[in-house]
Amino acid sequence: MDICIIGAGYVGLTTAAVLADIGHTVYCTDVNEQKINKLQQGIIPIYEPGLTEMITKNQDEGKLFFDTDSERHMADCPFIMIAVGTPSARDGSADMVYVKSVIAALSQTIHSPKIIIMKSTVPPGTADWMEAELQQLGVDKGLFEIVSNPEFLREGTAIEDTVHPDRIVIGAKQNEAAMNVQELYHTLQTQFLITNRLEAELIKYASNAFLATKISFINEIARICDAYHADIMEVSRGIGMDQRIGARFLHAGLGYGGSCFPKDVNALNDAAQAKGIRLNLVQAVKKINRSQVDIYLNKITHSLGKRSDKPRIAVWGATFKENTDDIRYSQAIALMKKLVRKGYGVYAYDPLVSSELSSVVWCSNPYEAVEQADLLVIATAWSAFIEADWPKVKALMKRPVIVDGRNCLDKSALEMYGFDYIGVGRP
Ligand code: UDX
Ligand code: UDX
Repeated sequence: MDICIIGAGYVGLTTAAVLADIGHTVYCTDVNEQKINKLQQGIIPIYEPGLTEMITKNQDEGKLFFDTDSERHMADCPFIMIAVGTPSARDGSADMVYVKSVIAALSQTIHSPKIIIMKSTVPPGTADWMEAELQQLGVDKGLFEIVSNPEFLREGTAIEDTVHPDRIVIGAKQNEAAMNVQELYHTLQTQFLITNRLEAELIKYASNAFLATKISFINEIARICDAYHADIMEVSRGIGMDQRIGARFLHAGLGYGGSCFPKDVNALNDAAQAKGIRLNLVQAVKKINRSQVDIYLNKITHSLGKRSDKPRIAVWGATFKENTDDIRYSQAIALMKKLVRKGYGVYAYDPLVSSELSSVVWCSNPYEAVEQADLLVIATAWSAFIEADWPKVKALMKRPVIVDGRNCLDKSALEMYGFDYIGVGRP
């Protein structure tokens, strides 16, 4: 099949690579000329394990093309997949400005039958609204079907998540359109769930809100563990062994960030408000996540105590999670800003970020960052940090204190090396 993908971001690029690998001919387009120029040369603008290899392989095999001329490919391809961003607007609603500009372009290009697949995360009712909008702009209803097919990939494991998804959700008005979309994924071994479009749109928001709820829940339990001197790692393990609960997304730490959870929790809340419904649980999830950075800040100030000099703090990790270069809504960056505001000297290192926040000194390796440091914060669980040369770190630091913002280090090993270890919910 010939597929035109609009938007070469994390979702668009990963989907383009996997669909080409399945055997389709994919034209991935983006308004950003610089990005497309790079992609045409095989330079991938984002860091995602395995993505470069899959893209270049399919480019070489003549199955994957990058272009800025989305109109041309929209006109030629029977399948059009929308993967533009839907960021949070100021009021928390999903900003649909990019989706609207795609609809305007679509209205000018649809002259043959199309299946328009919405991959971006959009509020309930978007597919219906798009359908009405296209008709109002003069497109014959008989020429197109809009299908909601949300993406559940995680950054850092995007290829794996797309090739081996837990499920593929397809929301359609007509069963035939759903079957056509299902056929696109024919080589993937997974379960397909066919729903109506509203249900598919809500499944995506509800999934992300539920995962965010699990994280805020475990972070709140970690606060009780702190008070009672119990280990959250054991409590989490015990909870997760119950199959009704499940072990994943029960890892306490600095809280969730990224381009999805914060925005989708807000957008779900906004969609509820639009119908006069107040989501109390979702409000609490947000509040706990916001205050999680302060829990760590308090632990840091408490450890440093009152001092006459300007404490020097090393922060390892800036991205919102490991194995990505994405810093959107990063809790690590939020913590750094608060540390700077407290008057501390912040020396940061991240394998893929080196120029965010001018008030922070960016170091070229993790060991440079800890030189003469009064305290080291692990803000992102990169494996290079977990496997650091701890005797070397200890020798370089002024005070051997580690604040583990991701509860990812071996507490007893660090204590054996002579560190004072501070996690969340770790006695
Ligand atoms: C995606 C989804 O689309 C979003 O709804 C979901 O919740 C998270 O993942 P992501 O791939 O992270 O977003 O977005 P981003 O990295 O911002 O990429 C979007 C791309 O679309 C950009 O490269 C942008 O230049 C491009 N774009 C935007 C177009 O090509 N056309 C437009 O009209 C607008
Ligand atoms: C998320 C969803 O998982 C994915 O299905 C959706 O398509 C996009 O949004 P992503 O944001 O890329 O994916 O990463 P994810 O692995 O979900 O992590 C999100 C945040 O939660 C990160 O900041 C991570 O550090 C944090 N997290 C995750 C925890 O704090 N504890 C956990 O147990 C799991």
